[in-house]
Amino acid sequence: MESTRETVSMDEVTALAKRRGFIFQSSEIYGGIGGFYDYGPLGAILKRNVKNAWWRDTVELRDDVVGFDSSIIMHPLTWKASGHIDQFHDRMIDCKVCKHRFRADHLKSLEQCPDCGSKNSFTEPRNFNLMMKTFVGPMEDTASEAFLRPETAQGIFVNFKNIYQTARKRPPFGIAQIGKSFRNEITPGNFTFRVREFEQAELEYFVPDDGNDLEVFKDWVERRKQWYANYGVKPDKLRFYELTPEERPHYAKAGIDVEYLFPWGWGELESIAHRGTYDLDAHMQLSGKDLQFFDEGSKKKYTPILVESSAGMDRTTLTFLIDAYEKERSTDPNGKETERVVLHFHPHIAPVQVAVFSLARNKPELVQQARAIEEKLRPNYRTQYDEGNIGQLYRRQDEIGTPFCLTVDYDTLQDRAVTVRDRDSMRQDRIAIDALAGFLREKIG
Ligand code: GAP
Repeated sequence: MESTRETVSMDEVTALAKRRGFIFQSSEIYGGIGGFYDYGPLGAILKRNVKNAWWRDTVELRDDVVGFDSSIIMHPLTWKASGHIDQFHDRMIDCKVCKHRFRADHLKSLEQCPDCGSKNSFTEPRNFNLMMKTFVGPMEDTASEAFLRPETAQGIFVNFKNIYQTARKRPPFGIAQIGKSFRNEITPGNFTFRVREFEQAELEYFVPDDGNDLEVFKDWVERRKQWYANYGVKPDKLRFYELTPEERPHYAKAGIDVEYLFPWGWGELESIAHRGTYDLDAHMQLSGKDLQFFDEGSKKKYTPILVESSAGMDRTTLTFLIDAYEKERSTDPNGKETERVVLHFHPHIAPVQVAVFSLARNKPELVQQARAIEEKLRPNYRTQYDEGNIGQLYRRQDEIGTPFCLTVDYDTLQDRAVTVRDRDSMRQDRIAIDALAGFLREKIG
């Protein structure tokens, strides 16, 4: 059988995401709300798997990283110290004719509106703070004003002392957190790539000032490269862009943007940054509290240097979805053309790992056997039971990226074996029911 693979368009990805229950527009029945999305039954599992994969590698497999979970709303002075109140702006610009709003840095020219074509119709650019505001308590005045966090990292910095003292850690060590962040983006877009509510997975790694900080930075870059490779992200679609000194903040000695080649071009998935002592210094200065580390051995106090890796979980989930998507056209030996859409998810990322089918709906012996197999596998794998037309069942499981489908047929009742179909090769093997656990352990883990 010959087959060809085509590159995917965003329309195809969004259509599949909706059709199969991965991602829906938020509050769709009211017309949606720009920059917000909901994860459907399969999307919720997919995103959870992506977060678990990050957490496993960053926290559980290391003895030098601890987990953390801070509140979304923090004391407003946090954002003064971090610079978000004074500097977390985008320049926005409006077209006076069509009233559309743009980010000034996203426009190719300031002469002609890209939406309505009017010439010289733009307002002067003005600053727009991206933090979402709310009020804490019953009074809606400036004293009760607060912000939804635009990044999770600050919760870690302000707790630095609480954490290292209670976890009994000394630099080099890291603190990791996954949680929601909010940014009032001027122009959300490209599906879940630029949204106003999203999840970040952030690692803040604190190192002593002993001259090894750049080595630690490089180690984390390598670790993150390995992570994307482990989950099969196509290497030619991933790049690690090194920021120039002009592109980096003044206090940073190094910075790398991890970028993926989306259907619309390269887009940032993660930023890895050497941040010096900037963040802890800023909080010490404004709070007047000591966040330095006291080294019992040398009896010296110092401010640790920070290496940060900050990845967007919605963008990573979208990347895994796009990267896995393949439309295969094949010609069988009889010259017949077939087409299938398949998601080649890594088995640890796939929302369903094993689907178990009964060949017929109305044969209780087959249904019972298939259900029994599915139930037995359920504690160890993400499974799904289904029944009916095998071609349609395979098509559905291919579209949601299920690596293995097991079918109970009439022969099963005699030979105590099932047909195991591999998603990627479409190869079918007959495997004894008693040997299934060993087979799946070898293939999935
Ligand atoms: N603490 C560092 C920090 O927040 P950032 O580069 O602003 O750095 C890190 O954000 C990651 O968060 C980005 O690489 C991206 O994956 C994700 N992110 C940022 N803004 C986003 C948005 N509007 N929608 C979805 N993800 C976003």
